[in-house]
Order: sequence, then C-alpha cells, then structure tokens
Amino acid sequence: MSRLTVQARDVAQEFGQRFGRAPVVSRAPGRVNVIGEHTDYNDGFVMPAALDFATLVAAAPRPDRRVRVYSMFMDATRDFDLDKPEPTGRHDWSDYVFGVATMLEESGLRLKGADLVVWSDVPLGAGLSSSAALEVSVAHALLAAAGLAFEPVAAAKVGQRAENEFVGMRCGIMDQYIAACGVAGHALLIDCRSLESRPVPIAPNLRLVIANSNVRHQHAGGEYNDRRAACEDGVRLLKHHLGPITALRDVTPADLERHRRALPDLVYRRCRHIVTENARVLEAERALKAGDFKGCGAAMNASQVSMRDDFQITCPEIDFLADFAQGLAGVYGSRMTGGGFGGCTVSLVEARAVDAMSTALVDAYRVTFGLNAEVFVCSPSEGAGFVDLERDRPA
Ligand code: GLA
Repeated sequence: MSRLTVQARDVAQEFGQRFGRAPVVSRAPGRVNVIGEHTDYNDGFVMPAALDFATLVAAAPRPDRRVRVYSMFMDATRDFDLDKPEPTGRHDWSDYVFGVATMLEESGLRLKGADLVVWSDVPLGAGLSSSAALEVSVAHALLAAAGLAFEPVAAAKVGQRAENEFVGMRCGIMDQYIAACGVAGHALLIDCRSLESRPVPIAPNLRLVIANSNVRHQHAGGEYNDRRAACEDGVRLLKHHLGPITALRDVTPADLERHRRALPDLVYRRCRHIVTENARVLEAERALKAGDFKGCGAAMNASQVSMRDDFQITCPEIDFLADFAQGLAGVYGSRMTGGGFGGCTVSLVEARAVDAMSTALVDAYRVTFGLNAEVFVCSPSEGAGFVDLERDRPA
C-alpha cells in the first residue's frame, strides 16, 4: 500500500474518532523551487516542482456555517464562523485555514460549514512551502465540502490572498500555484504574469536533492517584504526612462545597465538579480528540455551567486551547502531554494551519485557548522487532489 494511502487512512480515522462520521481527504504538496527566486512577485518566471511531502485535510460538511479544525501536529482545535468573518488573523496556524475560508467567500463563493482534520509531513519553516500546502489543501477540502469545483489557478490565487491579506506576508503566487497545479515527474515553468505554465520533464537519471540547513534566520518575513519594496522602487524609478512598465518583468538586463545611474546602488543590485534570474529560468528550461544538464546546473550556480551577492538573501550555512555540493561528483548545479535567510538548498544530481553526494555533504556540514543537515530526494509529484482511501484495499 502506498505511503500516501496509509497516511490518509490515519487522518480519516482520526477524523472519525473526533467527529463521528466519514470524511473525504484532500491533499496538496510542498514544493522545491529549481530556479527563479523572488521573480514571482515581479511578474516573472519560476520553475518549481511539487514534493511528495504534502498536507492532508480530512473534511466533511456541517449543517451550519461553522468551520472547526483540528491540527494533528499542533494537537489543537480552532473554531470559526463563516457568518462573522474576522478581519485579521489570530497569529497562529489557524490563520492559513480561516484566511482561505474568508478569501473563498470574498471571491463570491458560498461555502458550507465543515469539520476538518489537518496533518502534514512537509517540513515546517524549512522554505518548502508548508503554508501554501496547507492553504491549497484547505481550499480543496472546503470547496469539496460545499460541493463546489476546485479550479487550480483560482485556488492558488485565493491561497496567495489569504497569505497577503490575512497572514500579512506579501508572497508571490509560486508556492500556491505549484501546490495546486504540480505535474508528477516534472518541474513547472510558470509565467507569473499570464499565470500560464508548461511542464518541464525531470529526466529519469536526474534527481532533485534537497538539503535542509536547519537554520532559519530571524526577521526573514521583514527581509522578504524589504526585498519586494526595493523591486517596486526600481520599477518606479525606471518608469521615468522606460515608459509605462509595470514590473521588473518588463526590464531587460540591457535596459537596466543603460539606466543604472537612475537607481541607488542597492536598488540596482536588487533589480539586477531579478532581471538576470528571469533569463536564467528560461535558460534552465531550455537546457532541461534539451538534455543539457550541465547548462541547467550552470544557471542554478549563477542563481546562487546572484542571490548571495545582489539580492543578499543567503547566509553562511546555505552558501556552504551550495558551494560544497557544486564541487561533488555527479552534481550539475546547486543553489538555495525558497524565500531565503536559511532553509534548504536544491541540487541537480545524477541518480547514481546521490548516495555518495548526500553523505559527503552531511559530513562536511557537520564538521564545519556542528549542525545536522537533512537530505531529501524529491520525486516531483502532482498538485492538489483527493486521496483515494479505497486504493489497494483488499477485495
Ligand atoms: C517565498 C514566497 C514565494 C516566492 C519565494 C521566493 O516562498 O512565498 O512567493 O517569492 O519566497 O522565490
């Protein structure tokens, strides 16, 4: 029986014990971003893959308009009345749940009350988008409980709005989009302006290897919003020279160089990361599709340098993990993945080199920082959907 089926039956059983009826189970995955960091809120390109770590939400409708949610991880229950929406969150995990319920209703949908049980194996606080996995699986579950259709891109937007307006994190659309729309065996090239995407195959002999630094530097949320503000400053100043641009997506590296003097140096460097990163995402897509793994790895390595020096969102532990991995046999490229200031690296690795590479990386990290790095090998999975509890059940 698959690991997922076992997990989903456990969550359904917990639901039965707590709420005394049978639920359906929704699932949405965490993500690793292969390349394209902080480009999403600049209307640019990203290339994430959905993980096989996921958040499960068991759900059944209620006759009233209350949403009651039990988190197996937090061992806590929270309650919310859809008819008395709260303008802001309560500053805990339930904000992701009630934020999504509020935004679904604000988008014009009429939900039913529901009981929910939430479980997840997406590592928390590691930059692998545990929050987007929760938002999107809750959206899937609440829509199902109300008998409404799950429309993946619309659900991704709702999740992003919940985070922007309810939680107060000005994130882009990447994490919610890949949680909703992931394609098994593939990364997804997402155009964050048109919200269209195309699957990019991860060849069978390649692995995406994630190394969790287990460090999370403080103020990451504030730093994230600062970076976003610097990008907006850049657009505002460049408009005087480039005409009616609306985002850094509209600026080429040549444009930026030409008008460099119009920008304070720090804003220039922030913008340089974004405009060069957009080009690298497209180059990585081309390379992966052509079987040019070295080319993809080179774009990933250049992304790491740009995040470290221009966008300044890495930290010594992450720089070490990426640099060390880049020097190991069978590794095409390595970089930090996610919002920054700690979290994880992602490396593109030949399948047969994974074991030796992981051991060498973990050992070196322990010797240098006295810290344990966890290594995960990602099998790109599907986006949100139901889990079939009957699968593999003996006849
Ligand atoms: C976080 C945000 C995303 C994206 C990344 C950086 O994961 O939620 O929207 O901006 O950081 O690429």
